[in-house]
Amino acid sequence: MKNKLEAIQKEFDERLSLAVSLDKLEELKVAYLGKKGELTSILKGMGQLSPEERPVVGQMVNTVRAAMEQKITEKTEQLKAEETAKKLEAEKVDVTMPGKTKKSGSLHPINQISDEMKDLFIGMGYEIADGPEVEFDYYNFEALNLPEGHPARDTQDTFYITEQMLLRTQTSSVQIRVMENKKPPIKIICPGKVYRADNVDATHSPIFHQIEGLVVDKGVTMGDLKGTLEVYAKHMFGPETKIRLRPHHFPFTEPSAEVDVSCWTCGGKGCRMCKGEGWIEVLGCGMVHPDVLRRCGIDPEVYSGFAFGIGVERTAMARFGVTDMRQFFEGDTRFLSQF
Ligand code: DAH
Repeated sequence: MKNKLEAIQKEFDERLSLAVSLDKLEELKVAYLGKKGELTSILKGMGQLSPEERPVVGQMVNTVRAAMEQKITEKTEQLKAEETAKKLEAEKVDVTMPGKTKKSGSLHPINQISDEMKDLFIGMGYEIADGPEVEFDYYNFEALNLPEGHPARDTQDTFYITEQMLLRTQTSSVQIRVMENKKPPIKIICPGKVYRADNVDATHSPIFHQIEGLVVDKGVTMGDLKGTLEVYAKHMFGPETKIRLRPHHFPFTEPSAEVDVSCWTCGGKGCRMCKGEGWIEVLGCGMVHPDVLRRCGIDPEVYSGFAFGIGVERTAMARFGVTDMRQFFEGDTRFLSQF
């Protein structure tokens, strides 16, 4: 019996030394000290012993049990401590390391200018209108008094999808779409992308942005147009800004004008910014041509209107002092983060 106990203890010690997890320790505990464990089975077999032997063996079993329990407890504590140490090591934070910073982005300067203009016109009671960038020839040219073969089409060559469909060259196409669907009073702006078969240089890009404006109602005059543009110019370029309307030709407005604003850098004296002119051209405008109104089912004897088209890149270049339009499209964050 004594030999058997010693063998059990020896085997226990070996297995204990190999146990490297709390789960394994639990297994050992069950295997040796549990109800069906090795020691219990010895106790159960004590019936066969003589009355003299029984207390001796009982004593021995108890000593072995106490030793085993003690060892398991010790090893449990040791493993727990090791686990905690490992965890602490893994979760160690070096508070002297530099922190991780996230750079926040910013609105693209074109969007900033566009949003600013939208806010201004919405404040004056305009609604935002929208139209497709892939447009029918009819809306982009024909309905705007630019029939096939019209020489003014040459300055707005574009990318044709089919004979009748193209990438719009101007947001003026939206004027027609709006007037076809809505009767006066009309007061809309349409911000959007336009396309032209232009080569890229410092002041040209095959894709750029415009904001179109259209007001149609009874009794709308050129004075209303000029007043509106004055508000626009002062808002965008400063309260001292003056505007100048130069007669021009656009097929869909009559009369038409190009609009200059007094140079915001020199106040009109002439400087590098305005190339010595004192004035900088910012948009085209005019009174909506009666034929255009008539084509959209609006009687020009009853209603009149004005329209304007603003170049967003040009305005952004002016406002931010950017001299090369290409920078807006290169996506270089060193450039973009300045705005
Ligand atoms: N669509 C013209 C362009 O892209 C700009 C323009 C001129 C728009 C006169 C207008 C306007 O609405 O009345 O060159």
